[in-house]
Amino acid sequence: MASWKSEKSAAGVGNDYYAVPNTFELNGQDTPLAAPPRRRPAKRPRHPCAMMCGLAVLALLLGLGAGPYVDRQLRRDTRSVDDIFGNWGKPGTGTEGIAWYPTDFMRDVIPVPCHSHNDYWRKVPFFSAIHAGCIGVEADVWLRNGDLLVGHDTAALQRNRTFQSLYINPIVEVLERSNPSTEFYNENRRGVFDTDPDQTLILLVDLKTGGAETWPWVVRQLQPLREKGWLSYFEDGKIHKRQVTVVGTGNTPFDQIIANSTYRDTFFDAPLDKLENSAYNSTNSYYASVSFWDTIGNVWFRGEPSEDQLAKIRAQIREAHARGLHARYWELPPWPIHTRNRIWQILVEEGIDLLNVDDLDAATKGDWSKGSFFPRRRDIGR
Ligand SMILES: *[C@@H]1O[C@H](CO)[C@@H](O)[C@H](O)[C@H]1NC(C)=O
Ligand SMILES: *[C@@H]1O[C@H](CO)[C@@H](O)[C@H](O)[C@H]1NC(C)=O
Ligand SMILES: *[C@@H]1O[C@H](CO)[C@@H](O)[C@H](O)[C@H]1NC(C)=O
Repeated sequence: MASWKSEKSAAGVGNDYYAVPNTFELNGQDTPLAAPPRRRPAKRPRHPCAMMCGLAVLALLLGLGAGPYVDRQLRRDTRSVDDIFGNWGKPGTGTEGIAWYPTDFMRDVIPVPCHSHNDYWRKVPFFSAIHAGCIGVEADVWLRNGDLLVGHDTAALQRNRTFQSLYINPIVEVLERSNPSTEFYNENRRGVFDTDPDQTLILLVDLKTGGAETWPWVVRQLQPLREKGWLSYFEDGKIHKRQVTVVGTGNTPFDQIIANSTYRDTFFDAPLDKLENSAYNSTNSYYASVSFWDTIGNVWFRGEPSEDQLAKIRAQIREAHARGLHARYWELPPWPIHTRNRIWQILVEEGIDLLNVDDLDAATKGDWSKGSFFPRRRDIGR
């Protein structure tokens, strides 16, 4: 049975891993981890009455003037981020290339401090994440056959799912579109989010193969972004924020990141639980992260952190901020849903800079944080 330590067991229970939140969204109640497949199952009425009774209730609600509300709920359920991209790339839909990508696509997208983890599960990882408003995306990369492939484990790897094709090229195309050269505009400063063009997109690259040999490939493949001046960089003791901020994690070698002491355009994901007396600060790192499960522990029985756990969370976030780093926890409890929401809410209250999420819809709709308001417009890109 999967515990909420699902990130580690993701390879084994892949389907459950990303399916769970959808189910929460649908039913609005807790559902056991093991049950749901990724795609919403066709609804099979358990009882002959189930469907008819449902329709009757619906008709009644409509009759009572609840129409707009019901309508909203229905639309909400039927338009998950993945659904929007259900037909993406299919011949005849006009989405074969990126040409369909209209500025409109991002018009009402407000960037939120969430981090879309494992988003290569989605059909179009990068687009799904930014369309939901997540300011961070993550690619797990493997050096294979002289290229960087993207996937959660080796079984997920395909020759055509590369770091270049799934991340670098789409990012370049989106930025080219946000920065057109017209008679009215000839600048190069807009980011991927229309509503907040100054917001940087954080591209977290998780190295799954040996750091020493894999990292140089990442650095090289960033060249199209580098050439355009779209990478945040450090020079002469100062950080210059640009459209994309690249952060290395996993096997990323810190020594390669800091090899050039005067200039760098990639940053490290520092260990959030080991910052004291360390060399990590904003000149060489962007995030400070750690597994919530490993460092804070289980909150499952209580449904929220104990006093000690809360003190630890606060101390870690404080230390990260003192160093100019952005605090992030991964391996957050995904289930049960009320615990997940409670933890998200507490972390936001405590000043966490980025939420690791697998459920883009739930995270970006904000209705999980009853009472506290999700800081949608907070610019944490600086
Ligand atoms: C990648 O290749 C596989 C197998 O050849 C194919 O089914 C899939 O549609 C391709 N995906 C993309 C994004 O081109
Ligand atoms: C550091 O990077 C800058 C910019 O690419 C380059 O001009 C400089 O030569 C590098 N320094 C070292 C020691 O490699
Ligand atoms: C950041 O850390 C490096 C390496 O420890 C150090 O040389 C530098 O002075 C620090 N910079 C700031 C602004 O703290």
